[in-house]
Amino acid sequence: MERMCGIVGYVGPRDSQAILLSGLARLEYRGYDSAGIAVIDRDGDLDMRKRAGKLQVLRDDLSAHPMGDGTTGIGHTRWATHGGPTDANAHPHLADDDKLAVIHNGIIENFAELKAELLAEGYTFRSETDTEVAAVLLGREFSASRDLVAAFRGVVARLEGAFTLLAMHRDEPGLVVGARRNSPLVIGLGDGENFLGSDVAAFVEHTRNALAIGQDQIVAITPQGVEVTDFAGGTVEVEPFEVVWDASAAEKGGWSSFMAKEVSEEPEAVANTLRGRLHDGSVVIPELDGLDDLFAGVSRVIVIACGTAAYAGMVGKYALEQWTRVPVDVELAHEFRYRDPVIGPDTLVVSISQSGETMDTLMAVKYAREQGAKTLSICNTQGATIPRESDAIVYTHAGPEVAVASTKAFVAQITALYLLALHIGRVRGSLSPEVSRDAVTQLEAIPAGIARVLETEQEHIEQFARWMGDTQSVLFLGRHVGYPIALEGALKLKELAYIHAEGFAAGELKHGPIALIEPGQAVFVIVPSPRASRELHKKVVSNIQEIRARGARVIAVAEEGDAAVLPFADEVLRIPLAGPLFEPLLAVVPLHIFAMGLATAKGLDVDQPRNLAKSVTVE
Ligand code: M6R
Repeated sequence: MERMCGIVGYVGPRDSQAILLSGLARLEYRGYDSAGIAVIDRDGDLDMRKRAGKLQVLRDDLSAHPMGDGTTGIGHTRWATHGGPTDANAHPHLADDDKLAVIHNGIIENFAELKAELLAEGYTFRSETDTEVAAVLLGREFSASRDLVAAFRGVVARLEGAFTLLAMHRDEPGLVVGARRNSPLVIGLGDGENFLGSDVAAFVEHTRNALAIGQDQIVAITPQGVEVTDFAGGTVEVEPFEVVWDASAAEKGGWSSFMAKEVSEEPEAVANTLRGRLHDGSVVIPELDGLDDLFAGVSRVIVIACGTAAYAGMVGKYALEQWTRVPVDVELAHEFRYRDPVIGPDTLVVSISQSGETMDTLMAVKYAREQGAKTLSICNTQGATIPRESDAIVYTHAGPEVAVASTKAFVAQITALYLLALHIGRVRGSLSPEVSRDAVTQLEAIPAGIARVLETEQEHIEQFARWMGDTQSVLFLGRHVGYPIALEGALKLKELAYIHAEGFAAGELKHGPIALIEPGQAVFVIVPSPRASRELHKKVVSNIQEIRARGARVIAVAEEGDAAVLPFADEVLRIPLAGPLFEPLLAVVPLHIFAMGLATAKGLDVDQPRNLAKSVTVE
C-alpha cells in the first residue's frame, strides 16, 4: 500500500531518464522512502532500476551502473506503509515476463483476494505490495487482448480502493497508459511529447499546459496525442488549464531548505491570495459569482480539514461567525463522517486543503455532498481532486508548497477564509461597509506585517532556537484566535523537531495542564493585543504570572509596545500591531521560524521529516 507517492510518465523524442529523474526530484516531497524508473530503451527492451532510500540513492546507482535510455518511461517516488521501504517493494513492479512495468499511488483494498486468485493460477510475486498484484493482473489481461488500454479497462473493473496506476509495455513502445480513482493524475501537453504526473510539479519545467483527468478515467499518451476515456471506454471531455506558476517556484533557489524559502514567501502568499478580490473596501471573489442565493440560504457552516489546515479553519471560525452571523463548526475531516453529522441543503461544508488530495478530507466532502450539503473547497493546488469534487472553489495562491510542514499555505488559508467570510457577509447583508472597509485595510497590511516579523525577528528567533537545542518539551498557550495558533506552534515542533509539544487554550490551564509546569518548562504564550481587548489581554498576562510562579520559562509572542508582559517573560518575540482577528497571521510566523530553527539546530531534515509525507492520500 502506498500512502502518498509521486508519479511521472513521459513519451516523446527526448531521452526519458533525465526527464523522469528531474520530475521525481520535484515530486520527492510526496514520498521519499524509495524511488525507481523504467524506460523502454532504444533497442525496444524494458529497463528498470529501483532503490530503497531517497532519490539520490537511485541517482548514484544509475551513475555507477548506467542503464539503457529511451523515449518512453515512468518513474515513482514512494511513501511506504505496508511492505517496508526495500528495493523489492519499491516501484516500478514488473509483470508479463518483465515486459510490463507498473507504478501506483493509493491503496488497492481487495489486493489479498486478487493475489490469492493469481497465486492459484500459478503467478508468482517478488514483493509484498498491492501494486504488484495490479501489475500481474494487467499482464494477464494484456496477454489476452494485446492492447494496453483494453487491459487497463479489465483491471480497473476488478480493483477496489483508491489508485493512480501508470503502465507501459515493451510491445507498445511510445505509449504510457494511466488510470485514476480517488487519487490524483494530471496530463502535461508538450510539443511532440506528453507527460503524466501526480501533480503538475512533475512536468512544469517542460510545459504549463495541463489537463485534469476526472474520477474513474483512463488516459493514453503518445508523442502525438492524448486520449481520455471513462472506465467503460466512452470518450470524455477533459478540462484544460494553465499552470499559474513556473518551474522556478518549485525550486529552492539558493535557500537552505524549501521550508526556509516557503516561510520567506508567507507575505507573498497572503498578498497573492488577496489579489483581485478586494474592491473599494469590500470583498468580491469572482469565482463565487452566481452563488449569492446559496450563501443567502445557508443556516450553518461546517469547516472540515486535517492538521494545519484544520487550525486555519479554527481561526477562520471567529471571522466567519463575526461577519456572517452564521453558526460555524470546525471538524477534523476524519472524524466528521463517522459521527452521523446533522447536515442538509442549507449546510455549507467548507473544506480546506493545501494539496487538495488529503483522502480524509476528500471522503468527508463526498459524504457531505451525498447528504445534500453544499460544498466549497479552499485549496492551493489547481486541478486537485477535492476542488473538483466540490460545488465551489476558492483557490489560495500561495504557490507550490514543497516542504512537508505547511507554512505559507497556512497563512494563505486563513486569508482565504477571511475573504470568504467578508464575501458571504456582504451577500447576506450582515456586514456593515465600515467593518468591511476596516477588515480590508487590515488584510492589506498583513503582507508588510509578516515581512517585518521576518526582518526584525528571524535572526533573533533562530539564535534563540539554537540555544534551546536540547529542550525536550515545549508548551504553547493561546486564547481566542491565539488558541489555534498555539496548536499550530506545537504541531510544527512535533513534526520537525521530534519533541513533545502541546498547545492549550490558556483558560484551560487551571483545569489540568498547569500540573505539567515545573521549573524550566518552556512555554510559548500568544499574547492578545491590549488595544483590541484589555480584558483578554489581562487574562493572558495573569496566565503568564501563574505559570511563571511555578518556574516556567516564558516566551511571549506579543505586540510591539506591549510592556505588560516584560516583567514576566524570559523572552519576548515581537509582532506588529494588528486587529484582534488579524493577529494570528502575524503571531504564527515566529512559531514557524522557531520550529524550523530548533529542528535545524538538532541537525534534522526540515523538508522531509521522518515518517511523514506532504499529504496523506489514504484514510
Ligand atoms: O494538503 P492538506 O492541507 O490537506 O494537508 C493537511 C495536513 O496533512 C497538513 O496540514 C499537515 O498537518 C502538515 N504537514 C502540517 O505541517
